[in-house]
Amino acid sequence: MSHVVKKRKLDKTRQDRLYFDSYTDVTIHEEMIADHVRTNTYRMAILNNSESIRGKVVLDVGAGTGVLSMFCVQAGARKVYAVEACSIAEQAVNIVKQNNMEDKIEVIRGTVETVDLPEKVEVIVSEWMGYALLHESMLNSVLYARDKWLKPGGIILPHKAELYIAPVSDPVVEDRLHFWYTVKDQYGVDMSCMSDFARGTCSPTRPASPSSIYTRDRGGLRSVKGKFNFESFGSAAVNAFCVFFTVTFPCPDKPQPLVLSTSPFKPETHWKQAVLYLDSPVDVVQDTVVTGEISMFPSEESARHICIHVDYTIGEQKRQSKTFSIPDWSSGAQS
Ligand SMILES: C[S@@+](CC[C@H](N)C(=O)[O-])C[C@H]1O[C@@H](n2cnc3c(N)ncnc32)[C@H](O)[C@@H]1O
Repeated sequence: MSHVVKKRKLDKTRQDRLYFDSYTDVTIHEEMIADHVRTNTYRMAILNNSESIRGKVVLDVGAGTGVLSMFCVQAGARKVYAVEACSIAEQAVNIVKQNNMEDKIEVIRGTVETVDLPEKVEVIVSEWMGYALLHESMLNSVLYARDKWLKPGGIILPHKAELYIAPVSDPVVEDRLHFWYTVKDQYGVDMSCMSDFARGTCSPTRPASPSSIYTRDRGGLRSVKGKFNFESFGSAAVNAFCVFFTVTFPCPDKPQPLVLSTSPFKPETHWKQAVLYLDSPVDVVQDTVVTGEISMFPSEESARHICIHVDYTIGEQKRQSKTFSIPDWSSGAQS
């Protein structure tokens, strides 16, 4: 018997419940705190902005264990409202106590869209980024908080996000995908159809110079779109595009702002990179032009799940089109 399983559109309450449930587990918080690049960049950024934070009121959107709230107190904040929707807020209360910061940090359990704060704030801090930046769609909650609770002239950390795309050439990927064709010889079971499935997700490798596809520092957001254009500097088989992001923090006393990067050329973070596999590798030679357009938008099933659509042309090849969805194993969690 065969039947087609059509994914049901989840109502918003259920989408949110699934999403917040995923943050009740200790593992995801362990993974985030243990991501030294992530956590230490936030810490440095907050301490570097102590001039703007000292004596001020801060809103931590999606406080989790409260780690960023505590960095803000270390930077001299007078008061921090640590808003967290899921039950990890109870642990945040314990951690705040353990660090003797109860007089400075008020943990508030609820969504930032529904809680009532006693006052407006001068600073918003949040770690809202998901896979390929926009998976989970938490940015909209930060923008909501900005419009409702940030005083004029207040600051948001981070204050800018950029998305990048780059073509990838990785011979190991094709070997790994071919592995599924070898299973039959080893065990008498044909698993070659797994090769297509495996194209959905694999570990990333080094891309050519990335092209920035999107930059935004103000305004609400549902979908993003950007064009890209590359020229090859050698011969290779392109088998994927790789998408990654940076977020930037202002650093008033430093010549350069502080950048948290998920580039494959930088130290690894728990976000890694989103790798979008082509149906088959395409050979490029010196100066072959790769052009296209990428768009990211919420999936039909859930506004929290992001789809990535790429239209591309490689050299003389006719225009190709492919849509990718961030796999279910990543729902809610970020790595
Ligand atoms: C990526 S985690 C960051 C946690 C913590 N700030 C840190 O840096 O370790 C995002 C957290 O935001 C919470 N969250 C997401 N959207 C929220 C919302 N609209 N209101 C309150 N909390 C939210 C999630 O439950 C999750 O704990």
